[in-house]
Amino acid sequence: MDFKEIIASLIFDSINDVQIDKDEIKKYIEIPKENENGDFAFPCFRLAKSLKMAPNIIAENLKEKINIKDSIIEKVEAISGYLNFFIDKSHIVKNAIDKFDIQKEEYGKQNIGNEKIILVEYSSPNIAKPFHIGHLKTTIIGNALFNIYKNCGYKTISLNHLGDYGTQFAKLIEGYKRWGSEYDLENDPIDKLSDIYKRINELCEEDESVLEECRETFKKLENGDEFCVNLWNRFKELSLKEFEKIYKLLNVKFDSYNGESFYSDKMQEVVDILEKNGKLTTSQGAKVVDLTDKGIKTPCIIKKTDGTSIYATRDLAAILYRARTYDFDKCIYVVAEEQNLHFKQIFEVAKYLDLDEKYTNGLIHVSYGMIRLPEGKMSTRKGNFVKVEDLLNDAIKKAGEILQDRNDVDNKELISKQVGIGAVIFEDLKESRIKNQVFDLNEALNFNGETGPYVQYMTVRTKSVLEKAGYIPNKDDVNIEVLTDNESINLIKLIENFDKIILSALEKNEPSIIARYSVDLAKAYSTFYNENKIINSDTAVQDARLYLTYMTKVTLTNALKLLGIEVPEKM
Ligand code: ARG
Repeated sequence: MDFKEIIASLIFDSINDVQIDKDEIKKYIEIPKENENGDFAFPCFRLAKSLKMAPNIIAENLKEKINIKDSIIEKVEAISGYLNFFIDKSHIVKNAIDKFDIQKEEYGKQNIGNEKIILVEYSSPNIAKPFHIGHLKTTIIGNALFNIYKNCGYKTISLNHLGDYGTQFAKLIEGYKRWGSEYDLENDPIDKLSDIYKRINELCEEDESVLEECRETFKKLENGDEFCVNLWNRFKELSLKEFEKIYKLLNVKFDSYNGESFYSDKMQEVVDILEKNGKLTTSQGAKVVDLTDKGIKTPCIIKKTDGTSIYATRDLAAILYRARTYDFDKCIYVVAEEQNLHFKQIFEVAKYLDLDEKYTNGLIHVSYGMIRLPEGKMSTRKGNFVKVEDLLNDAIKKAGEILQDRNDVDNKELISKQVGIGAVIFEDLKESRIKNQVFDLNEALNFNGETGPYVQYMTVRTKSVLEKAGYIPNKDDVNIEVLTDNESINLIKLIENFDKIILSALEKNEPSIIARYSVDLAKAYSTFYNENKIINSDTAVQDARLYLTYMTKVTLTNALKLLGIEVPEKM
């Protein structure tokens, strides 16, 4: 039942002489924050201009005219320019239960995607360099977006655009030639490669001829010299093995690891098309695309003065490749806001590549704010970064310690992992992505805060309530009339809203909307549980409350799943 539609019709039937259609009215209908303002509200200022009347007068007038007899509406109130609608509670309950019943365990799944193809590019760390907490954030946001699109019926493909190309690899090769035998790269390869990189850089600064050697080596690498390519491949394999440890802990997978090097032989076409379209100009010896007429002051460099290509050119080659290979409807880049300018530039330049508008309109940069660790905590361990793998293992260990103090549970190892990782994921998703963040592990693991473990814990509670009661869910057992108390109605309304929450997260590419929702739902269940005795001598009451517990369990579980968080068996 579409309550908004019903209310829009009632309003529409009560106004005349106004140029507004029913759909527009429907669009304006809000869900009030406070229960005392009803279940739905219509802001009458929307009609003030055309009616030439003050909103509070409109509200009063409409209140008199609207005919709620024989409708699902219990009462209408006019308060400070708003029309507040109170739906008959049993209708709210029935509507939510029927809606849930269509999908049951699949509750929240949608099919708006029609198999349209969505590419989600995320994580994209750099080979031989540390995977830092910024990379952790893109990995977590990207994975959640991947899940959300997939859940909504899109054909979703995950891409990891590895930073595996550039002069630094030539430097690494030169460094390795000199000191490779001093290092055991099988253990902590990224630390060691970083060390080699630091040393060779220092040497390059002291000795110009070494820098020259590195340049030569880069050319060799580009031309496929066997020794160089083999070493580069080894660095890449070692790094990937390290990254995989993190991906395994987070349970994320990629359909493609085609990184920058994959596009290195596909860049000439970009240059050719831009040249043909007269878009390339020379600026201080470099080939650039001027974007001033697009409101972007900095030109996009396509080829550097020395003829070598750059990051942007490889990204443009990737756009061509992805359009042809995947025929995407959207290509989403989850990359930090530091690269805002870069994406603005390449999205504009992409319009000069003779691509169908479908592709250039589908390019989306989903950016996120700065993330750092609390001062003086872990940020200084191992140079000035913390290894993400250590951070995750720390979270698992600490979760284990907390659980130890709480309850005796079997399967501790698995549960510590689910809770520790769940805490980290949730912490990265709970605020809108553009906000800067100080990542505090202790806060993330606070079982009583607005955290992953809190939501997991409430979900586990729903499970144990159902188990203890030995309840087998059956919608037909539910007597709707016994669920009309405020706590039940609150919970039911939230559950009913799940699909809209998912859609709004999708439209805004904002998983935090689902994270916030899961906290609200967990809290609503907690209140419901505290206020209402579930195990009850009145079996009708008990069955109805158990069914509502079941609906909560499924909704919480599915919400967490979208975020990439598992629900432990016990907690
Ligand atoms: N490797 C880059 C970094 O770590 C991110 C790559 C983002 N993706 C892209 N298509 N440019 O900063």
